[in-house]
Amino acid sequence: MTAQLINGKDLSQQIRKNIKEKASQLTEKYRQPCLAVILVGEDPASQVYVRNKVKSCEDCGIKSILQRLPADSTEKEVIDLINALNQDKEVDGILVQLPLPKHISEQKIIETIDVAKDVDGFHLHNVGALSCGLPCLKPCTPHGVIKMLESANIDLEGKLALVLGRSNIVGKPMAQLLLEKNATVILAHSKTRNLQKLTLQADVIIAAVGRPLFLKAEMVKPGAVVIDVGINRNSEGKLCGDVDFENVKETAGFITPVPGGVGPMTITMLLENTLIAAENSFQ
Ligand code: GUN
Repeated sequence: MTAQLINGKDLSQQIRKNIKEKASQLTEKYRQPCLAVILVGEDPASQVYVRNKVKSCEDCGIKSILQRLPADSTEKEVIDLINALNQDKEVDGILVQLPLPKHISEQKIIETIDVAKDVDGFHLHNVGALSCGLPCLKPCTPHGVIKMLESANIDLEGKLALVLGRSNIVGKPMAQLLLEKNATVILAHSKTRNLQKLTLQADVIIAAVGRPLFLKAEMVKPGAVVIDVGINRNSEGKLCGDVDFENVKETAGFITPVPGGVGPMTITMLLENTLIAAENSFQ
């Protein structure tokens, strides 16, 4: 293996130590910071994610409220719950786990969340602020990726960074954050032509396509930084990323593993956003 590993688990633990300390200070001075998590339905992956989020809050001294609603809940029922949490002065952050059942508009739900409590950074106001480079609650996964790059002392200024995938949750905000760091950004997607020609030029590749082992070694420039946002299951049910890790690690300069890479950082950034939201509300 030639690539240096960027370990998201270790970095997460370091950051969470600080989060725990800060949460304890806020609890002493004001009250315990609090995250409300709404889970609609029984999606198995969502249940695992939500359980991890709730447990991580507990570990860091952040209060969590889990609100579970049945899959056949109406859009109005979800909106009413969000409005009640918006009004609740003891709640700092609100997260609605996605995806939602098809009959509920995700956009409408996200826009119902108070901008100041939008710890996912998905509200249009936060998205707009991010695209203008203004202070905002930043989306957790791309923010976690930036922290990982910083931890490895990777300077992004003037570098060619290629983001694979244009989702609202990862790809688009990732491109914004890289731009903020003065990288030259390519946002590639399923309709991009001559992808390999582009990836081979990139100094940094962020893979967020949701396709197991999509990024192959022959698509990576020697020495490039490769960040794997993918969380997929292979044919044997084993967790794997969007990057063909075993082969790409022989070409890349830096690489993140799956599991133990970006995943833990996403939750850590959620905890950090909850603290930021709490601090803002105390001011
Ligand atoms: N579903 C998958 N990723 C996320 C996320 O980051 N936030 C929320 N709310 N739902 C998700």
